[in-house]
Amino acid sequence: MSEAFVTAETTSGLAEGKERLRPGPEPAICTFMKVVEYQRFGDESVLSVVERPTPTPGRGQVLVDVFAAALNPKDVLTRAGKLRFFSGQRFPMRVGYDWSGVVRAIGSGVEGLAAGDEVFGMIQAWAGGAVAEQVVVEADQLAKKPAALAHPQAAAIPLAALTALQALRDEGRLEPGQRVLINGASGGVGTFAVQLARLLGAHVVAVTSARNAELVRSLGAHEVIDYATSRATSVSAPVDVVFDVFGNQRFAACRAVLTPSGTWVSTVPKLHVLASQLGSRFSSQRARLVLVRSRRADLEQLAAWASAGSIAPVIDRVVPMADIAAAQRHLGTRRARGKVVLTTR
Ligand SMILES: NC(=O)c1ccc[n+]([C@@H]2O[C@H](COP(=O)([O-])OP(=O)(O)OC[C@H]3O[C@@H](n4cnc5c(N)ncnc54)[C@H](OP(=O)(O)O)[C@@H]3O)[C@@H](O)[C@H]2O)c1
Repeated sequence: MSEAFVTAETTSGLAEGKERLRPGPEPAICTFMKVVEYQRFGDESVLSVVERPTPTPGRGQVLVDVFAAALNPKDVLTRAGKLRFFSGQRFPMRVGYDWSGVVRAIGSGVEGLAAGDEVFGMIQAWAGGAVAEQVVVEADQLAKKPAALAHPQAAAIPLAALTALQALRDEGRLEPGQRVLINGASGGVGTFAVQLARLLGAHVVAVTSARNAELVRSLGAHEVIDYATSRATSVSAPVDVVFDVFGNQRFAACRAVLTPSGTWVSTVPKLHVLASQLGSRFSSQRARLVLVRSRRADLEQLAAWASAGSIAPVIDRVVPMADIAAAQRHLGTRRARGKVVLTTR
């Protein structure tokens, strides 16, 4: 982060030379931070690390010094313009929703946090901006970082683990002793889903490729299906929940392997998913779309489990923010094992 002494007029656009001739107001410190932005949709080459003024936290917000940020497919899809219906197209756009860092400043109305606190969280909706040296976040969308975890580990948790938790517990209503099929078990969401399903007391059948079979077993999967050699739904007995993390299994095709009151949960907001959700309202087998929410109580639960060693993030790689293009390219292959994380300072 660089620092410069400027007046309010300088920040509103007056030329520096002109500024020196005027008696300005009291000099304020304007700090600058590095952040990843893009000015148009496109491939990874549109991404660049730029310097921007440090934002100021408003009411209910905190300014965080970010130490690590994790990527999600949402970052890749948004940058490519595939989610423009949701994201809008007001440029520049910023990258990253998951972050871990230290509270630098607090806006009005924020209770229970102090400068210096180690925190982590997920930015809700589409503003992004976690891949930066600093970011302003809503105080109710963060939790204290598990002390035992380094920032890259903590940053790897929020979006993926919240999705897995909310999909299994809230949408799937997974209960102890039930059977769950997790398709896409070795990626960011899947690696948490396997661990959380075990924590919730379920029998876990994980779908992955052969190279990740050992990984998902080590996370707690009881059975593994290799999607390259078997149908993803080739289970030995019906399951109570199908969690289609990867997003290539349709509700209609999964009904045969669901118990009569079973639930299929998808992560992809596609038309067939929405139609299935609507259509299943009057049937005993349910179809649900999970849409992740940044909830403090859930983050605190995940932090407690991480502190106790009950869940642990699986990290594919940790790279510096300057390598954002390569990191997004890797995630875009859809073959990452767990999370791709960036260090930001
Ligand atoms: N709705 C929401 O709120 C929400 C939230 C989070 C994520 N999502 C969506 O959920 C999806 C998964 O997210 P993620 O972070 O887990 O992605 P990810 O980390 O990119 O997932 C990569 C994993 O997918 C596996 N995979 C590749 N091809 C597969 C196939 N044909 N069958 C089964 N698994 C396969 C890979 O395993 P192998 O290398 O072994 O093939 C790899 O480990 C994305 O589409 C994302 O946008 C939605």
